[in-house]
Amino acid sequence: EDQQIILGIESSCDETSVGIVRNEHELLANVITSQIKSHQRFGGVVPEVASRHHLEYINYCIEEAIKQAKIKKSDLNGIACTYGPGLAGCLMVGLTAAKVMAADLNLPFYGVNHMAGHIYAAAIDHKIKFPALALLVSGGHTEFVYMKDELSFEIIGTTLDDAVGEAYDKIGRLIGFNYPAGKTIDEAAKKGTANYELPRPMMNRPDLNFSFSGLKTAVRDLVEKEKRHGTLEVNDLAASFQEAVVEVLISKTKKALNQISVRELIVGGGVAANSLLKSKLIELIQIDFPHCQLTIPPLRLCGDNGAMIAAFGSVLAKNQITSPLTLDSDPGLSF
Ligand code: KG4
Ligand code: ZN
Repeated sequence: EDQQIILGIESSCDETSVGIVRNEHELLANVITSQIKSHQRFGGVVPEVASRHHLEYINYCIEEAIKQAKIKKSDLNGIACTYGPGLAGCLMVGLTAAKVMAADLNLPFYGVNHMAGHIYAAAIDHKIKFPALALLVSGGHTEFVYMKDELSFEIIGTTLDDAVGEAYDKIGRLIGFNYPAGKTIDEAAKKGTANYELPRPMMNRPDLNFSFSGLKTAVRDLVEKEKRHGTLEVNDLAASFQEAVVEVLISKTKKALNQISVRELIVGGGVAANSLLKSKLIELIQIDFPHCQLTIPPLRLCGDNGAMIAAFGSVLAKNQITSPLTLDSDPGLSF
């Protein structure tokens, strides 16, 4: 019949994941295996360890996703896979599995930009209204992407140094939280009061760029001072840091929406799970941009996952934009 079922593979960092999407917007399966435990003792993702995990789990994820979707492999209409940005060895594992599958089943193959995947996580339950603006906030990226239509991506603002998730993880390390620290800091912040004074880097500049390394340094100095005096209030620090970060993100988002007119604001990447960011975005849209639709994907679709890769793969399939089986990984891929 006229249905299109796309399987998507994601292995760019520390999640091995396979998702299946039917007709662009219907989620059939999303199997995510995290390897965070293996990396925690190192305080970050170790590329070699990550590649080996992907190798170990990729086939399980594929089989499990097919089972969850209650389909047969022969029902699939195409295979999509992240080919960048990400860790070279990790990308290679997913790509190889995807190419083997596409060749084996004689199906078209679609190379997907991981960041496009994060944006399209928002499209899993509805049709994005274009023009749209995406705020991508993850461990490796902080950027505004303007989308005139479903296949055009233009970066109109980015971080000049650390990504916002990276800042969360580095601050977490300073105060003894496990990697990745975003969720833990978010929870600690809810129990604290934002009474430490911290800078809001670049907030009042007219452009749409970010910088988080100065904030990180300010937090480090503060933590050292408070520790010396034995007065560090971890929850208050978390609240103060989170308030500074979110204030900058919200102020720049407001600036972006004032500069360009869009019908939808999409938030993507792991930090999109942040509770304060979410509530402040809802407030911003309600008060200042009531005609713009705000889409923040559900928690399980915010972090890295195969379903978002299948979602963008479905758009490529609809537009018949296939990739050759010789497609190489591109660790530094941008839009
Ligand atoms: O998109 P993602 O899963 O992986 C990358 O492509 O980077 O994002 C992971 C990042 C980590 O830095 C993590 O600390 C952060 O997202 N994160 C959060 C929250 N949940 C995850 N940051 C702030 N608040 C959260 N609730
Ligand atoms: Zn990601």
